[in-house]
Amino acid sequence: MAFPKNSFILVFLLVCSLSWNAWAKVDMTMEESVEVYLGDIADIPCQYVFSEQARAVMIQWFVRNPGSSSRERIYYGDNTQQIVDGGTDFTGRITVSDIGDQEGVLLTIQDVQLTDEREFFCQVNGMAAGNGEGKTHLRVFDPPEASVIEGVHAGISVTNELPSRIASCEARNSFPKPNITWYRDSSPLTPTHGQINVVTLVTRESSGFYTVQSELQYKVAKEDKDALFSCEVSYYVPEGVRTAKSKVINITVHFPTTIIELWKESPQGLVKEGDTVELRCQGDGNPPPPFTFNREQEQETALEASDDTLVLREVIRGDSGVYQCRSLDLDTYEQVTGDMQLTIHYLDPAVVVPKDSEILLKGESLTATCNALSSLETATVWFKNGQQVGKGHVLFLQDATYDTAGEYVCEVTVSSLPGLHTSGSVHIIVQGAPQMKDADREVEMDEGTGKWVNLSCEAHAHPLPTISWTVTGSQSWREVLTRATEQSTISVVSIKVTSDITAFCNATNDIGTETRSFSIRAIPMVTLTAPYSPAEGNGVIIVVIILCILLLAILGSVLYFLHKKGKIPCGRSGKQEITKENPNKDDIVVEMKTNTKTEDAGLLKGVNGDKNGPSDQYMDLRK
Ligand SMILES: *[C@@H]1O[C@H](CO)[C@@H](O)[C@H](O)[C@H]1NC(C)=O
Ligand SMILES: *[C@@H]1O[C@H](CO)[C@@H](O)[C@H](O)[C@H]1NC(C)=O
Ligand SMILES: *[C@@H]1O[C@H](CO)[C@@H](O)[C@H](O)[C@H]1NC(C)=O
Ligand SMILES: *[C@@H]1O[C@H](CO)[C@@H](O)[C@H](O)[C@H]1NC(C)=O
Repeated sequence: MAFPKNSFILVFLLVCSLSWNAWAKVDMTMEESVEVYLGDIADIPCQYVFSEQARAVMIQWFVRNPGSSSRERIYYGDNTQQIVDGGTDFTGRITVSDIGDQEGVLLTIQDVQLTDEREFFCQVNGMAAGNGEGKTHLRVFDPPEASVIEGVHAGISVTNELPSRIASCEARNSFPKPNITWYRDSSPLTPTHGQINVVTLVTRESSGFYTVQSELQYKVAKEDKDALFSCEVSYYVPEGVRTAKSKVINITVHFPTTIIELWKESPQGLVKEGDTVELRCQGDGNPPPPFTFNREQEQETALEASDDTLVLREVIRGDSGVYQCRSLDLDTYEQVTGDMQLTIHYLDPAVVVPKDSEILLKGESLTATCNALSSLETATVWFKNGQQVGKGHVLFLQDATYDTAGEYVCEVTVSSLPGLHTSGSVHIIVQGAPQMKDADREVEMDEGTGKWVNLSCEAHAHPLPTISWTVTGSQSWREVLTRATEQSTISVVSIKVTSDITAFCNATNDIGTETRSFSIRAIPMVTLTAPYSPAEGNGVIIVVIILCILLLAILGSVLYFLHKKGKIPCGRSGKQEITKENPNKDDIVVEMKTNTKTEDAGLLKGVNGDKNGPSDQYMDLRK
């Protein structure tokens, strides 16, 4: 309590001594400012140099009260005592010490508070040696918390007349007041009238900290749809200024549709009848406006479509034309239209002339045509039995033969659109007289007597020929096969060779006849081996006949010899004797040829009926 009074007296004495020793003075050296982070230790040096040796030095520290010019002492020290004033903001937090070898002191403040940001005065009094005062501004810093950026989620229309809110940024609790700068991509935004506004709200917390909120208002353009916005907080630190960037945000820019594009999404390439066509529409606006589709000639009729796609199913050529896609911008009420030409290609069924079928006379010529109407260039190929026989839509058939006849198919294709193809056909019939297969080759053959021979005739003709046979030389023949195909008739006869045979087959139709002849020479059979077949039997008979003739000749010569000698009377009795034997001859023959089948027996009877028969019998008896 006594110190302030003492010090006042001392100051008074000091002032008196100064007036006496005007030449004595003290040089004060103090820093302009000392900068520290909140909570750190602040050292404020105070240096002084006396021009004369001071006998006693008195040091006092004062602090200026915030918001006024009044000062408050916080420390007193002289050669004998060092006192920190009680009851101040600094009581208990400050110490004053000597600075090394120099004349001076150091005020140390522990746990610096925001309220410590004040001017500190160092007053030195050396009595007769003079006095001085210096000051240092203590500056306290506290960086802001990480900045927070908040973008606007709703779409922002370019048609807004005033700048629109884009985002806001906040830098909380810092000291001193920070600044917030806005960036579009990497360029800082400076407020421009009517284009960019920055609204800043600075709040001084009761704790003394500053919180700065900044809102960017910006007039968006279409180009801003991909722009990234961010804010940057700049704040003071003891070493100077630091900056902290926020995250980047993007914005949704709404802009009206100015151009609409309509195109064919599928199918790729040319479109043909029956295809399903997808047309898609796209505008340059955001958000995409609703679209309506229509055909150019039917402006009033909206086609049913889903969103941006129009599907046309099973298109026909009549669906060709200009299609339109329209949008009505909901902001500007402006209508925008896009259009495209859709062409549906087609290929009609092939028309072949002559139609269905055509009858040609042999040797005639014909020109057939095959046409299919198409919107594209076509190619035509003719086929017969799977083989290509012509190219182009005209087919010439010259000098028709039976080989010319048949089914001609024309296939029409479109090279630029492989899905399009059609075909038609014409049946060509060649009419004429029968034409015998191998007619010019006369058939002559040798065949064993009694054998069966097959003769066949095949004749081409239209109308279909009938085949008839004329066989001379055999009673046993029959037709074993007749078969008619589309163009020809085949007939086979089976003939039993009994003697030389001549056979004709005649193929006849309305137009003419053709004949083919066959001649068969019968060859006698000489086989005697048993058991023999019916065919071999004939040969045996021939042999028997020949033997009989031989024996008859011998018998004749013997009889003649005996007659000359007169040993045998030549009279009726003799002849009767011979004929008398006749009743028994059958028994004898049967006995002799037990193995002979009935057919052969019949033949033998026939032979026995001959004039030579009795002689034959006699010969057998003699044996
Ligand atoms: C804040 O902006 C003001 C005015 O432009 C400027 O004087 C000050 O230095 C800035 N502060 C920081 C921390 O950048
Ligand atoms: C921009 O926004 C869109 C949707 O809001 C989002 O999908 C995209 O990732 C964002 N891009 C960037 C770079 O932030
Ligand atoms: C003759 O033709 C008929 C019927 O096709 C057949 O059964 C027979 O074996 C043929 N005969 C000869 C000798 O080819
Ligand atoms: C077959 O043709 C020949 C010669 O052209 C003729 O003599 C004969 O009478 C014809 N026969 C039949 C059955 O038409």
